[in-house]
Amino acid sequence: MRIGILTSGGDCPGLNAVIRGIVLKGTEINGQEFVGFKGGWRGVVNSDLIELGRSNVRGIAKEGGTILGTSRTNPFEGEGGAERIQQNLEREGIDAVIAIGGEGTLAAAKRLTDAGLKIVGVPKTIDNDLDATDYTFGFDTAVQIATDAMDRLRTTGDSHSRCMVAEVMGRHVGWIALHSGMAAGAHAILIPEQKTTMEQIRSWVESANARGRAPLVVVAEGFVPGETDDAHSERGLDAFGRPRLGGIGERLAPMIEEMTGIETRATTLGHIQRGGVPSAYDRVLATRLGMAASDSVLEERWGQMVALRATDIVNVGFEEALGKLKVVPQHRYDEAALLFG
Ligand code: F6P
Repeated sequence: MRIGILTSGGDCPGLNAVIRGIVLKGTEINGQEFVGFKGGWRGVVNSDLIELGRSNVRGIAKEGGTILGTSRTNPFEGEGGAERIQQNLEREGIDAVIAIGGEGTLAAAKRLTDAGLKIVGVPKTIDNDLDATDYTFGFDTAVQIATDAMDRLRTTGDSHSRCMVAEVMGRHVGWIALHSGMAAGAHAILIPEQKTTMEQIRSWVESANARGRAPLVVVAEGFVPGETDDAHSERGLDAFGRPRLGGIGERLAPMIEEMTGIETRATTLGHIQRGGVPSAYDRVLATRLGMAASDSVLEERWGQMVALRATDIVNVGFEEALGKLKVVPQHRYDEAALLFG
């Protein structure tokens, strides 16, 4: 069987480990052959592909990014559509597709599967917001990068007796903020799931300052302050028409400074959280998901994705995977908030 692999949507540490896991299990055990589509769904629509054999994936589990490239191309727009993609696959002798991506990618994969294409999925997002899997690869790496950055912000904050605001990724959910903030001992963690007033933030910052600490405030990019209605966006829309986020930290810093009189500086970590080598945990998870995806094709599990449940890799339907966001539950936020201020 000849299988096409694509990586789509925002990149994520561990993508290369998934590709390697698929190709090694597929070629060595499952008798499969592979090609890679370049630039996500764009490569599928334009038949832009490369052969992927064992030698092409040598040593890549530890590399960041994706050797295939990625894009936020919607396969149903422009020249795309199920019919054209089916024709392309037939012409290239490709029997099935493994799509590695987040919500947008899997939604497109579901539409194509409903139209009769043979596709299995591998979930991907550093935000860790897909409900059907306990963890997504890339999340652990992002949390470690953010924690390291916050440790550094704390020492410089202490030297200058400043309040430091660290902005991390998290469009709809605050998992990166919650975990990195807890790990770094933040005095406030602000996430999209929790409406928090400026008055509450002021009280946490002042209480930490009163104990002689340099307050650390962690904010997820999708946080909506209690007094406002929408997440902060000043950079237009992305390819899916979603507002480009980023900048809430810079907006909060002067407000905190004005309310408390404490000099306050903001740092936005941005894409640094998505770059560089994946952690050991993410390499292992990504490799296991990749190997399981090769098995899913062998078992003809079209319209399903591989997922992590506790420590096991399982299969779930695209529908279930797309049904619900995995938000930070109230009890997890309350537990962290006991240590704020
Ligand atoms: O979906 C993952 C994510 O990291 C979000 O947290 C963020 O809003 C988005 O990607 C930014 O992606 P890009 O700048 O690559 O469009």
